[in-house]
Amino acid sequence: MSSEQKKNYVVQPGGKFQGEIRVPGDKSISHRSIMLGSLAEGVTEVSGFLEGEDALATLASFRAMGVQIDGPKDGKVTVHGVGMHGLKAPEDDVYLGNSGTSIRLLSGLLSGQNFESTLTGDKSLSGRPMRRVTDPLAQMGATIDSHDGKPPLTIKAGNKLSGITYTLPMASAQVKSCVLLAGMYAEGTTTVTEPAPTRDHTERMLTGMGYEVDVQGDTVSLQGGGKLTATNIDVPADISSATFFMVGAAISEGSDLTLTHVGINPTRIGVINILRLMGADIELSNEGLTGGEPVADIRIKYAPLKGIKIPEDQVPLAIDEFPALFVAAACAEGQTVLTGAEELRVKESDRIQAMADGLQILGIDAQSTEDGIIINGGVIGSGEVESHDDHRIAMSFAIAGLQAGGTIVVNDCANVATSFPNFVSLANEAGLELEEVDD
Ligand code: S3P
Repeated sequence: MSSEQKKNYVVQPGGKFQGEIRVPGDKSISHRSIMLGSLAEGVTEVSGFLEGEDALATLASFRAMGVQIDGPKDGKVTVHGVGMHGLKAPEDDVYLGNSGTSIRLLSGLLSGQNFESTLTGDKSLSGRPMRRVTDPLAQMGATIDSHDGKPPLTIKAGNKLSGITYTLPMASAQVKSCVLLAGMYAEGTTTVTEPAPTRDHTERMLTGMGYEVDVQGDTVSLQGGGKLTATNIDVPADISSATFFMVGAAISEGSDLTLTHVGINPTRIGVINILRLMGADIELSNEGLTGGEPVADIRIKYAPLKGIKIPEDQVPLAIDEFPALFVAAACAEGQTVLTGAEELRVKESDRIQAMADGLQILGIDAQSTEDGIIINGGVIGSGEVESHDDHRIAMSFAIAGLQAGGTIVVNDCANVATSFPNFVSLANEAGLELEEVDD
């Protein structure tokens, strides 16, 4: 748990989403702006930074390693880079809360330092698999102690790293990024091949900071021993946070909502592709590029949805969006089938089971399978569902209220603060009657 006080959501049925809103900054890019800004030479000015607990955990960890970071204030952060070899040993264990991105990317970066560090997290993070990063890092020469493949991770000092050629066993941007960050400290070339495209924010930001990255199809390489040059980073709004509003507008009659300045990196737009296949009415405008990342305004209007077989090539491109997409499927006509998504079982919660259980409570025929789910569209009722302390499960059940027959109570929603601190107020502003109450 990230917060001591338990919070529940109480959602009144009905409503529609209207108007124009901007959701908070992209979580993945916010993490990387602190990490790479800290290692750069010079001062990096970040705007649009996500002031959520996960990105703040990364920020605090770099402060603990001696980096001066001013802010955040109104999304602005100033990172006084210390250069590739300027980090200092943290005095205590580094606590990373709920954040898988922080621990996995940091484990790569810290493997290249000349001090020992121990990375810890909350209950959810302490149960998540880390061999996916410790295995390739060990191949590079790092020594990392774990608790049976799970956090805490203790990264030993003074190992000389060598570049490796590594094929990812699963489509994971965190693992890819971890190996690349370690590769900056390794001798020779580090090459990573991915089984399917995953988010490429690390590669883009490295390039933007002057670190040469060679991308050939599904393979990324870099040479150790380079340096980063500070730059200004404008963080776009997070498409993963925008998703709750896109789905909410798609399922509720009369909706017409515009989400501004959203990151539409091609490795992140599975949600748009999948919703369009289901029949959603989505228009992009004001397309542009900010700091090497594509952005656009997204307008979404209500349109009746139909169930589909979700193409497996879209799975890594929508990996964080499935809990909300399952709510869209629950409101669609016919059956939606998801396969090839076993990674959802090792997120902040087992997102397949958490959603199947909750949807069933709300009267929807939803059957989990080993690597996905089968959902038959129907009528959402009312009831009390569990978020399993998972921010995306909590927000998904909240927006289900737009199509519900009665009140929905979602338990344990404090973790929404990890990625979307102002979710309750923005959801109310857009048209959902949602209240956060102490347990
Ligand atoms: C992320 C990668 C994804 C995603 C997570 C953020 C990143 O995780 O689910 O929310 O910032 O690299 P995996 O790499 O485990 O798929």
